[in-house]
Amino acid sequence: MRAPEIITIDGPAGSGKTTVARMLARHLGWRLLESGSLYRALTWLALSEAPELLKERGPRLMKFLRERLPDLRFEASEKGLSLFFREKPLREELRLPEVEARVSELAAVPEVRELVGEILRELAREGRVVAEGRDMGTVVFPEAQAKFFLTASDEVRAERRLRDWRAQGLSVTREEVLASLKARDQKDSTRKTAPLTIPQGALVIDTSEKSPEEVLKEILSRLP
Ligand code: DC
Repeated sequence: MRAPEIITIDGPAGSGKTTVARMLARHLGWRLLESGSLYRALTWLALSEAPELLKERGPRLMKFLRERLPDLRFEASEKGLSLFFREKPLREELRLPEVEARVSELAAVPEVRELVGEILRELAREGRVVAEGRDMGTVVFPEAQAKFFLTASDEVRAERRLRDWRAQGLSVTREEVLASLKARDQKDSTRKTAPLTIPQGALVIDTSEKSPEEVLKEILSRLP
């Protein structure tokens, strides 16, 4: 059987995967699935409406999320995944520091991961998708035709995140960004369900000293 037209790009925060995945999707004319946005949207929803359930992380949280699901709409295009809550676009909400600080808690809940996996697989049903995240090549799309894992040094990753946050007008120090990244890495890599790991057969690219264009070129040269 031919492998489905799915390319996965996994890696830690600040590894450059989102930028490169976006460039790759545009280049191929495929849709881009930024899976982190789904975890962020669910975290934002829980924080806004039921913060006590986020702490609990039990069956009541899942009941709440499943009940709210019909109010969420997802639209995947070459530009990425657009999310709407009751038809209101979710954008800045997903990047709020509270969301950033709590998203790993929610992402550690196995039932939440199952739910997000279902949504992603449904969105990718017709193929021609670039899926970006932490477990795209390992758990959600193990059958992908090509898998990449991006890394970068802590300093480079913190510098990139600092730029993103400052561009959004947030005043943060380099130390705060580095501490937040490391805390998230620690949680994402040590959780029991689908921890951040290199998928079997993935090409690992260290992007510390590379421009996004160089990384894209390397990816394109490795596509089957
Ligand atoms: O890629 P991102 O920074 O938007 O992801 C936000 C969080 O979501 C990240 O800290 C861990 C979680 N995540 C995950 O557990 N699995 C994915 N496939 C994508 C994101």
